[in-house]
Amino acid sequence: MKVGIIGTGYVGLPTGIGFAELGHIVICADNDVNKVQALNQGKITLYEKDAEKLLIKNIKSKKIYFTSSIKECVINSDVIIIAVGTPIVDTNINMSDMNGVLDVIKEITPHLNKYKLIAVKSTVAVGTCHNIETLIKKISPEAKFDVVSLPEFLREGFALYDFFNPDRIVAGVGSIKAKTIINKLYGPLLKKTKILFVNRQSSELIKYASNSFLAVKISFVNELANFCEKTKADINEVSKGLGLDKRIGSKFLSPGPGYGGSCFPKDTKSLVAMANKYNVDMPLIKTVIKENESRKKQISHRILDLIKKINKPKIAILGLAFKAGTDDCRESPAIDIIFELLKHNVSINAYDPQAMQTCFKILGNKIKYSNTIYDAVEDADILVVLTEWEQFKNIDLKKISLIMKHKNILDCRNILDYKKVLKYKFNYEYIGGRK
Ligand SMILES: NC(=O)c1ccc[n+]([C@@H]2O[C@H](COP(=O)([O-])OP(=O)(O)OC[C@H]3O[C@@H](n4cnc5c(N)ncnc54)[C@H](O)[C@@H]3O)[C@@H](O)[C@H]2O)c1
Repeated sequence: MKVGIIGTGYVGLPTGIGFAELGHIVICADNDVNKVQALNQGKITLYEKDAEKLLIKNIKSKKIYFTSSIKECVINSDVIIIAVGTPIVDTNINMSDMNGVLDVIKEITPHLNKYKLIAVKSTVAVGTCHNIETLIKKISPEAKFDVVSLPEFLREGFALYDFFNPDRIVAGVGSIKAKTIINKLYGPLLKKTKILFVNRQSSELIKYASNSFLAVKISFVNELANFCEKTKADINEVSKGLGLDKRIGSKFLSPGPGYGGSCFPKDTKSLVAMANKYNVDMPLIKTVIKENESRKKQISHRILDLIKKINKPKIAILGLAFKAGTDDCRESPAIDIIFELLKHNVSINAYDPQAMQTCFKILGNKIKYSNTIYDAVEDADILVVLTEWEQFKNIDLKKISLIMKHKNILDCRNILDYKKVLKYKFNYEYIGGRK
């Protein structure tokens, strides 16, 4: 099949590479001309494991190419996948903005030269696929098409793994023809994964429900961690015991500095705002949103408390990305924590293996960026771990104990080996317990 993808970001790019690898011919369109140019040369514009290798392979076998022309993408495709962003632009409304998606629809409609399946992979408000159908019919009553909701569940950092090994594929379809095409699109993956076909509104809501549920899990464990800190219970042990219950599951039970990223904060807020439009209150999700906001402030104040006796303290931050495995800093807890710390006459040296460039776009020269972990911690009064990168788990604590000015550590991801930490006589705190 010929598959057009519009938007080559954290979702569109791995999806395009994935479909090319499955054997389809993929044409990706993006309005960022520099990105298109780089991608056609096999240069990945974001950090995602294995993506560059597979991109180059599929460019060489002419299975994938990139264009800045939506027209070229649309007229040459049987299926058009929309994967542009749906950020919250108006914080008063707190609802994802559908205009980016609707603008793309207006652009593609004049080029619907024959039947096309339009699949909406962007996370869109309940009812958007229906609205898209109405809009296309209004602009071009002759157009032959189906609109399908095809929400994406990939995890940044594991995007390609998740593409080839999805827990589930959900498709909101309204016609048999659309169902047949979606089956063909995912063909080789159907040996191991079934597609859940539902109506379009259900499909749109499944995406918001999934992210909101995971946000609830994270906030729940953070709340328990606060309680553990006042008792002799240890959140690492509590989480383990909790997660062994198959009804609960062990994932998303790690305490930390709050959830972040481009999806959870946006999707929880959007779910509340969408429900509100129908006069449905969502007190549980509202509380989770509020608690997650205050979590980042709590962490900042905990850091400041540990160094309160030091004049103009120097803080070493390990980890800027919102989670390990990505360079994505959108709504990263590290960013909010840093902004809060900077109000208190501190200096910050940060290190992240992948996210320093993306972070620079947000924080600029407000902090210093170090080339290595050890450069960041040299002379520091406290070391704070904010992202759970694998390489932070194995830092040389002996070396660090010799180069820090004061040996304070706040491990906000509970990844350091506390036995080693204590061996080198650090003042060590982590989330949800004490040693
Ligand atoms: N990032 C994730 O982990 C993830 C996971 C699941 C779902 N989603 C959803 O997928 C959607 C995309 O998210 P993302 O993180 O990939 O966003 P992104 O910002 O990384 O990528 C969007 C891309 O679309 C391009 N674009 C925007 N408008 C365009 C237009 N008119 N024509 C052509 N290209 C255009 C941008 O240049 C950019 O490359 C969002 O709705 C998001 O909620 C994201």
